[in-house]
Amino acid sequence: MIDINAAIRDLSWHREPLGLYEPIAYALEGGGKRLRPTLAMIACRMYDGNEEQTLPVALALEIFHNFTLLHDDVMDHAPVRRGRPTVHVRWDDNTAILSGDQMMTEAYIRLESVDPARLPRVLHIFNRMATDIWSGQQLDMEYEHRENVTIDEYIEMVRLKTSVLLGTALQLGALMADAPEPDQQLLYRIGERIGLAFQIQDDVLDVWGDECTFGKRIGGDIVQNKKSMVQIMALHHADAARKKELHEWLHRETFDEAEKIREVTRLYNEIHVRPLCDERIAAYTNEAMGYIEQLPLPVEKKTELIDIARKLLNRKN
Ligand code: IPE
Ligand code: IPE
Ligand code: MG
Ligand code: MG
Ligand code: MG
Repeated sequence: MIDINAAIRDLSWHREPLGLYEPIAYALEGGGKRLRPTLAMIACRMYDGNEEQTLPVALALEIFHNFTLLHDDVMDHAPVRRGRPTVHVRWDDNTAILSGDQMMTEAYIRLESVDPARLPRVLHIFNRMATDIWSGQQLDMEYEHRENVTIDEYIEMVRLKTSVLLGTALQLGALMADAPEPDQQLLYRIGERIGLAFQIQDDVLDVWGDECTFGKRIGGDIVQNKKSMVQIMALHHADAARKKELHEWLHRETFDEAEKIREVTRLYNEIHVRPLCDERIAAYTNEAMGYIEQLPLPVEKKTELIDIARKLLNRKN
């Protein structure tokens, strides 16, 4: 079984100009769960595919994911990722933009090794994924300035910005193993459902996580007025007084960040939104489990995927 972490460590970034490649090495050596390449390799193994051939696709997905994080941290003004200063803080915005650009190219360079029979399909799926992510990120930014975002709109935004990458990882892993087309589609839908649960969990951890374990600044979504599941649920379920208080915080142009985080978190706690978010996380995970059951494979082929979906339910980072 191929070791994804070792394969990422083996990528060499000792190249010039150093200013372009050192941030790439920094981003990729910084840990992370390696969820997307892991999902790709799991899907490949489910259909007895060739892991060596699938590895470049798995690496392309992880490099692409890390590229989106470099740009996302600029957009979100995020100071910390994986317990270390973000690239735009450690260097500057231009570095995050340009090293990010090169990371996107590095992802496509990995795809060059895909065999000619599969390459057009792989590229098509990869490009559809990228297009969806940018749409999701655009909505995520627009929603910072909108107050009446519905749960359905939130779910579609998350499907685009987060879920499609997980769905694509499963689909491409299966495609590289020549899984039947309907199975590939079902795996994509499984990834989508896991992704929805994953992002809601990320929203929850952004409020109630432990900074050391989560590796990101707690309260970042509150400071940025992100339409996280937590905020949307809070606005839905708050009584009139608390809704008014929340709206006041959303409209304040100047504020002390620590105070805003403390006060909004207090309101979230008083409105009891956390269990409502947890219910959603469990529901989407259950939907994913239902789809996994539908995959026409012997149950022992599904255990790795079931285990990872279950493990994500209790993640702290
Ligand atoms: C962060 O993804 C971006 C989201 C979709 C929430 P991960 O939580 O998978 O980040 P790493 O790669 O493990 O650090
Ligand atoms: C992640 O959204 C989506 C993408 C990076 C495409 P977030 O902005 O919530 O991710 P984190 O919390 O910064 O990791
Ligand atoms: Mg972010
Ligand atoms: Mg973001
Ligand atoms: Mg987040």
